[in-house]
This record gives sequence, C-alpha cells and structure tokens, in this order.
Amino acid sequence: MAAFDDETPLDDDALRDALIALVDLDVAAGVDCALDETPHDRFAEAARQREEARREDARPRPAVADPRPAPPRERPQPAAERAPARPAVFPDALDPGSAAASARALAAAAEDLPALERALAGFEGCALKASARSLVFADGTPGARVMIVGEAPGADEDRTGIPFVGRAGQLLDRMLAAIGLARTDVYIANVVPWRPAGNRTPTPQEVAACLPFTRRQIALADPDILVCMGAPATQHLLGVREGITKVRGRWLDYDTGVRTIRALPMLHPAYLLRQPLQKRLAWRDLRTLRAALRENADQASDSPPR
Ligand code: URA
Repeated sequence: MAAFDDETPLDDDALRDALIALVDLDVAAGVDCALDETPHDRFAEAARQREEARREDARPRPAVADPRPAPPRERPQPAAERAPARPAVFPDALDPGSAAASARALAAAAEDLPALERALAGFEGCALKASARSLVFADGTPGARVMIVGEAPGADEDRTGIPFVGRAGQLLDRMLAAIGLARTDVYIANVVPWRPAGNRTPTPQEVAACLPFTRRQIALADPDILVCMGAPATQHLLGVREGITKVRGRWLDYDTGVRTIRALPMLHPAYLLRQPLQKRLAWRDLRTLRAALRENADQASDSPPR
C-alpha cells in the first residue's frame, strides 16, 4: 500500500488503497454491516438535545393572555376525509413497555400464520428491524409434530429470509436426518426474526418485544413437541433460569394457551460447531426426541379410529 501523509494529495490508486485499508480496518474491528452512509456523533446529538431542552425551559413565557382573537374552530372532519388509521403501533414503540403491548395486540389479532407474518412485518417495536435486511419468519411445515425455535437469524438467514440455512442450519439438517427427519418434517422459527448486527445475542428487551409473536406462532403452528435450540429460546420460552448445559435433554412443559405440550431444550448447533465434543450430548437429546415421536405414533395407532 502507498505511504501517504496529510499534506500530499493522493492519486486515484493511492486513494483506492487507502480506502480499502480503511475498510479492512473496520472489518478487523468486527464491523460486518453498514447501517448508514455518514457517521453520527451520538454524544454530541444528546448534548445538543439537552441544550435545546434547557433553552426551551428557560424561554420567558407571556405573563398575560394572548390578546389576539382566537382562530376559528375547525369543523370536525367527517370520518371519510380523515387520514387512514395507522397500524396498531404505539407512538413510542421503542419504549419496551409499549413495544411489548403493541406486539401482544398485533399477535393476538393474527388468526393464521400468514396474518402473523404480515403483522410482524409491520411491527416497529424492535430496533433490530432497522439494521436487518429481511424478516426471517419460518421454514418447514406449519402443523408438523415438531417445532424448532432457535435464537436469531445470522448473515445467511438475513440474506435469504430463511431460518437455519448457514453453517449451523446445515448441521441442524444433519442432526434431523440422523433421526430420520427432513426439514419438511418440522417447522422452524426463531425467538427473534431479525438479525442482530454482528451476530450478537439479542438483548432481553429485543426478545421481549418479539416474544408475543413467537408465542402466537407456536400456538398457530400447534406442534406436539417444541424443541428450544440454545439458551435464549429455552430461557425466554420456558422461563428456565438454569444454564442450557444443565437443562438440555430434560422434558419440560410449554403452555400454548390452548393445551400443554412437551418441550425439549437442546444445545444450539452453532455451539456444537464451536464445541464438537458436545455433539455426543446432542445425539443423546436427539434420541430422546426420536423416542418421544415413536411413543406418540404408537399411542396414535393404539387409539380407536376417530
Ligand atoms: N441460528 C439461529 O438460532 N437461527 C437461525 O436461523 C440461524 C442460526
């Protein structure tokens, strides 16, 4: 790369090299997606807002009533002339309380999975939406006996809009195949449907904002068995405080709102890629799942025809 200092104007090649070096530096520092074209100094913005608020507070207010005649009162607009109602997003949707309330109202109103996906697409209460490329709703077959819920989409899922298609997803496919299941034999979703930039774990607030949608998705998909892949799905859906390595492979109950189904926490495939020795535990849990499916099938074939 060409050496340069502040004084010497750069020719095109040197400028290109300098820009590439700058991007390399960002990548090495962990930047993996561009959110905006210009940098923002949030500290300066916050200081400016505080200063404006202080000036507004200090502004002298008129001591007497305004002597000007009051403007004529507007005739109330007939409903047909009013602007169309905005979707049910609360005014301060990023406030965690109102985001969760908005999510609950939108999710409860969705009568089927396509309506739920549309409601989620219009939901503004989770900041992850702003940096994600796609809404990653689901894959597989709604109504399948097994529903798998993971953590959050990664880069490949964000690009394709389909959950579990990257390296972890390919391992999940192999894990399912090991017990005779194809992707189309299960229904797959995540506790958060937008990719957290940089693949970080979603914050509890981000999960809480999306959770009413995930719970409604489970209720509408109506599986017999819920597999929670990894700690966030296990903690947020099953209310478990213990770590995933303690609780994995243990049957728990999940209330869909209509009935109680069985839930099985498992180690996340992304964790297994980093800790391949733990695959033996995952294999144990997969056999537990396979046994439950067989048991279920036997019970169904033992029961009298309906
Ligand atoms: N990890 C997840 O938890 N979900 C995906 O969709 C992909 C990777």
